[in-house]
Amino acid sequence: MNDKWYKTAIIYEIYPASFTEEGLQGVIHKLDYIKDLGVDAIWLCPIFASPFLDSGYDTSDYYSINDKFGTMSDFEELIDKASKKGIRVILDIALNHTSSKNHWFVDACSSKKSDYRDYYIFREGKNKGFPNNWISSKTMKPTWTYNESTDDYYLHIYTKYQPDLNWRNPKLREEAYKILKFWINKGVDGFRLDVINKIAKPIETTEIESTKKFADYLYENHADSHKFIKEMRKQVFDNYDDILVMGQTSGINTNQGIEYGKKENGELDLFLQFDHMDIDTRDIIKLKHSVLKWQNIDKESAWPAIFFGSHDSGRMINKYATNNKKYFEVAAKMLCALQLCLKGTQVIYMGDELAVSNVENKHIDEFIDIRSKDIYAARIKEGKDENRIISELNGITRDNARRQIPWDKAVEMQNAKDSVLSFYKHLINWRKNEKTILYGITKSIMDGDENVFAYQRVLDSDIISVFANISENEIKLDCSTYGKKIISNYKDSADDKLRPYEVKIFKEAGKE
Ligand code: GLC
Repeated sequence: MNDKWYKTAIIYEIYPASFTEEGLQGVIHKLDYIKDLGVDAIWLCPIFASPFLDSGYDTSDYYSINDKFGTMSDFEELIDKASKKGIRVILDIALNHTSSKNHWFVDACSSKKSDYRDYYIFREGKNKGFPNNWISSKTMKPTWTYNESTDDYYLHIYTKYQPDLNWRNPKLREEAYKILKFWINKGVDGFRLDVINKIAKPIETTEIESTKKFADYLYENHADSHKFIKEMRKQVFDNYDDILVMGQTSGINTNQGIEYGKKENGELDLFLQFDHMDIDTRDIIKLKHSVLKWQNIDKESAWPAIFFGSHDSGRMINKYATNNKKYFEVAAKMLCALQLCLKGTQVIYMGDELAVSNVENKHIDEFIDIRSKDIYAARIKEGKDENRIISELNGITRDNARRQIPWDKAVEMQNAKDSVLSFYKHLINWRKNEKTILYGITKSIMDGDENVFAYQRVLDSDIISVFANISENEIKLDCSTYGKKIISNYKDSADDKLRPYEVKIFKEAGKE
């Protein structure tokens, strides 16, 4: 059963700019904390040289470490110390695009004859306008920017500071593979491949249909992206033992996910899908459906990856549960249990184990996230009310995930038996030895309930039932038939109900 390490792993996502104030040395100093939490691998958001206009997802040099975070020798020290503690290191790398400050791009812009010209996607304008009608949902702007020196346009599906690479160019692909090998040879254990399902773009043939607002659907999941990922796997990862290939794949349905993750297809080991990130998460029925429909993809020889929090969203307590401070602790524990009882590789976002929550900004100048600024500009153009825009942004801005981790809170929580941190440790530990949670099939129960997210995990004759109340309401619940209560986030017991944000886990052994 336990064929690959990552299937049962807990991965801890670190955004190094605010994990500590000391970059990679800060991560090294926290390795004991990470180990103590029960983590198997850390995923480092991009650490390469970058102007940091999109938080490092704009790489100016793939072979060097951002001075913000330290030096190559700090990185080598991290790899060494992490591996001694049995913690694997996964690098986040954006190969769909570079920074506009990358020397390849600077050179490509300077002349049509540049050796790097074909590393990017330049096109002539049409009828004194852009080469095609693409608008990106991420920037809400055209995907093209004019380059004066060569009198044409370059493609960027993210900001204009992030020109897209041309994956149809075999030379570029070779360059990408060389980069990946370089880091594998430094000792990394895997990659999180940024927006890997968008690398192939059907520029010549497709324009946005009149019924659609954005072009994303045209460049997500193109057949050629699958082709390139397969090639990458063969050229790079298949030459090494056990490198985890985890791809970020937003905008996919389950069949498309299985295409990326199916073992026989030789593409990704894990794919990070965004169904639950893209819906109104306060609609519990929708939330349940969006999470549970991926659970049993192991029937198709794929494997789910589970994350609730990430560097790309607000904090998970606010997103899935409540803005009411009074419930933060109990809600944080409830979400922890809800997540960790699901089948799949678990990705925990830094700070969620400390119940970090969103902060409210009052003015647009307080936002740092480039995407928040783009959304603000688009909404102002649409004539929306300023206060409403700020309130929308407070819910979604990526700044919330990117604030400094309150380490004083961690110290307090380390010493408190009932803290959110202790709850995380307990659940992580428990999960590691609970085969039903690791491998059992997942069955939805109480599908139609608008407050309770409930499911069962079943393996042979063991059944584990999880009931999570994602509301402030008290819900009547007769649990007498689910076996023994083994975990809950409330101290005292109340057998016939679920209190606000209460979670209860029951185990029935030896009976189907
Ligand atoms: C991914 C990253 C996000 C970044 C974008 C462009 O979605 O997760 O943070 O802005 O790619 O690289």
